[in-house]
Amino acid sequence: MTEALTFLGIESSCDDTAAAVVRAWPDRAEVLASVVAGQVALHAPYGGVVPEIAARAHAEKLDTCVEAALAEAGLALADLDGIAVTAGPGLIGGVMSGVMCARGLAAGSGVPLVGVNHLAGHALTPRLTDALAFPYLILLVSGGHCQFLIARGPESFQRLGGTIDDAPGEAFDKTAKLLGLAQPGGPSVEAEALAGNPKAFPFPRPLLDRPGCDMSFSGLKTALLRARDAEVAAHGGLYRQTRADLCAAFQQAVADVLAEKTRRALKAYLAEAPEVPALAVAGGVAANRQIRSSLEAVCAEAGVRFTAPPLKLCTDNAAMIAFAGIERFRAGTATAADLVARPRWPLDQTAPAMLGAGKKGAKA
Ligand code: KG4
Ligand code: ZN
Repeated sequence: MTEALTFLGIESSCDDTAAAVVRAWPDRAEVLASVVAGQVALHAPYGGVVPEIAARAHAEKLDTCVEAALAEAGLALADLDGIAVTAGPGLIGGVMSGVMCARGLAAGSGVPLVGVNHLAGHALTPRLTDALAFPYLILLVSGGHCQFLIARGPESFQRLGGTIDDAPGEAFDKTAKLLGLAQPGGPSVEAEALAGNPKAFPFPRPLLDRPGCDMSFSGLKTALLRARDAEVAAHGGLYRQTRADLCAAFQQAVADVLAEKTRRALKAYLAEAPEVPALAVAGGVAANRQIRSSLEAVCAEAGVRFTAPPLKLCTDNAAMIAFAGIERFRAGTATAADLVARPRWPLDQTAPAMLGAGKKGAKA
């Protein structure tokens, strides 16, 4: 199959309602339209995503997002070669809203429907943006996800390790909350850390003493809480400089853990002698300059290409779902079972189940 395929993508597994249109040729792809309606304001009063509120908001917004994406692309439903929808993993009410919307559109138009794994969407994005060749190593690092995968094909992923509790983005968000900084926490903590001394607090580097690529970030958050409380007890409050130091020391600890675990993941990946070795990092936390530059340095050391898709395609969006749908469609492996909404759907079915289920839903 050499011709271009044009797919509508639909995403509603967490707190972003999204629709997009992507056209892909066998060697390149183009995002014709991408619409994302976030729900941050709806959940803000509750300090986390409320699944029922999310599902209702998705059901209300999906139609208008799809209409807006088709209008932006200048296409009608009948012009499409397929519709791809996130069928899991995620918050089940939201996933069901998306799957029902996609089923309705497919039934009404006769366009083929493909169920897509949300994590496959993230993991295949470097092929959408940089045409990376398989196999490549990917680090998904966001508020909901944290895992290393070797991507071997559109359906073939090997998980080398992941977080056993919080994702790093969650740890950044909790740190910001503990220090009275704005949400989302990542950018606030990063800005505050600029004026801080990363050596001021000896925070742990969890799980570095254990072999393998698994990670843990919840202990780091507890260490920060203790350090904050000790400072408040000693001085009756937090000095501005102390707050900056806490942020810098926390960020350094996360960067050190991710860098060392990336070294290990690269070792496992490079043992297979890939023709064009590459590491892609995706997810909101990839926006962090310190984390990014330490990962770049690890790749330079190992002689591996480093890529990070643009942020709007790293965070939750439907272009990645449309593209992953096209890859599955070309591979001819999609089945009716993939169109059932699933809260859990590990990319690597052979890897042991991950323990954590963060505030944004299941991690694998
Ligand atoms: O990928 P994303 O938009 O959503 C999912 O979690 O799926 O990632 C959002 C997460 C939030 O936890 C946010 O605090 C974190 O990414 N983040 C950052 C930065 N920008 C966003 N973390 C560290 N440094 C940043 N500059
Ligand atoms: Zn995601």
